[in-house]
Amino acid sequence: MNKQRNATLTVDGKSIDLPIYTGSIGPEVIDIRPLYAKTGMFTFDPGFVSTAACKSAITYIDGDEGILLYRGYPIEQLAHTCDFLEVAYLILKGELPNPAQKAEFDNIIKNHTMVHEQLTRFYAGFRRDAHPMAVMVGVVGALSAFYHDAMDISDEYHRTVSAHRLIAKMPNIVAMTYKYNAGQPFMYPCNGLSYTENFMHMMFGTPCEKYEPNPVLVRALDRILILHADHEQNASTSTVRLAGSSGANPFACISSGIACLWGPAHGGANEACLNMLEEIGDVSRVGEYIRRAKDKDDPFKLMGFGHRVYKNFDPRAKLMRETCHEVLNELGLQDDPLFKLAIALEKIALEDDYFIQKKLYPNVDFYSGIVQRALGIPVKLFTGIFALARTVGWIAQWNEMIGDPEQKIGRPRQLFTGAPQRDVIPMDKR
Ligand code: SDX
Repeated sequence: MNKQRNATLTVDGKSIDLPIYTGSIGPEVIDIRPLYAKTGMFTFDPGFVSTAACKSAITYIDGDEGILLYRGYPIEQLAHTCDFLEVAYLILKGELPNPAQKAEFDNIIKNHTMVHEQLTRFYAGFRRDAHPMAVMVGVVGALSAFYHDAMDISDEYHRTVSAHRLIAKMPNIVAMTYKYNAGQPFMYPCNGLSYTENFMHMMFGTPCEKYEPNPVLVRALDRILILHADHEQNASTSTVRLAGSSGANPFACISSGIACLWGPAHGGANEACLNMLEEIGDVSRVGEYIRRAKDKDDPFKLMGFGHRVYKNFDPRAKLMRETCHEVLNELGLQDDPLFKLAIALEKIALEDDYFIQKKLYPNVDFYSGIVQRALGIPVKLFTGIFALARTVGWIAQWNEMIGDPEQKIGRPRQLFTGAPQRDVIPMDKR
């Protein structure tokens, strides 16, 4: 048994030892839980730049080496070898399924794809032009009104059923969100199709004719879902964990993750990136936007660039660019001006000292908007696709947390900078 290593902290001449823990791979951690009791001080880490909020065995990222592993498997291998439900099974259960397990899992998910018919009524309360993410926050949150009875989250079976329901119903909910906005009838799932074929059927099919999915486009979208499935303790996953730490209904927790993902600094960057490319419009204007991105007085940031963890390339961005090529070639859009602009922008940025020094590289959102637009997905729904995929990561992380016997409600503290205690002066004396 290795001897416990400690970090020694000395404050005002008084030293305390804080245990150091080593994971299976990656940075070690210093356990600061005794800090407040021993020093009366908190750590200070807004944005959690140097804070590990939990233990997890699901996803590992090495930002310097551009490594992303789901349960130990490199994203490159998973994206080229597996389909999304295979990866969902892996993320949820920790191992890749054998053929029998995969067939059973496919079947379970297929048998949960329908939503309660009453749920479709929620859409009518939204304006047709409501942002899809606003609709999804509401509708997914409303699922908690349908599944609060069979919901003993301390029961592993109940947690598993909730995970299956969410993975199965998200494609239906995203597709209904699209149909509602388009003014088209909702399409029921067709269980003779694969998970991603079924999603495309519910999105682009109509009651008037049989939808024939294009296998190249199905494979591309399936890969996009794999690339977005989980990503360690990102902002939306941390939101789901914090909401879930109070014992809240898992459907409501996923709704909180959707709300967080919507932000342009997070999952909303794919929509923002495409809008940015359309605003730049032409390669001749790239320099102007690079200058703006570098200007401290200009809030403009190059959407789809930079990452809290990846200080080298984001492995997903490379796979997304490859998928983009495949889709545009399949659709005869090789000369898509926006794609050419993105390639030029990426090249110019990667050769610019500012981006090099600050280690800003394209992230998963840089190319995803271009390929989703080519697939016929409206810009405002890009983040909805991200949420569809990330649901498996969110619910797997939630499940890991609820199943952890050491789990406690999350309750950070603060550095208080407000008014010290003072007395109220009655109104007639103020
Ligand atoms: C996702 O966490 C995850 O894992 C997220 C995600 C996932 O799968 O869950 O990977 C998905 O959210 C990807 C990121 C998508 N967001 C964007 O593309 C939006 C543009 N990027 C930035 O907003 C920014 O890069 C963040 C939010 C992604 C990261 O911000 P950090 O880690 O807080 O870094 P920072 O803002 O402190 O940036 C460091 C420096 C700053 O300059 P200085 O204050 O040091 O002078 O780099 C600059 C920033 O101004 N900078 C940028 C920039 N990103 C950072 N400057 C111009 N353009 C950018 N895109």
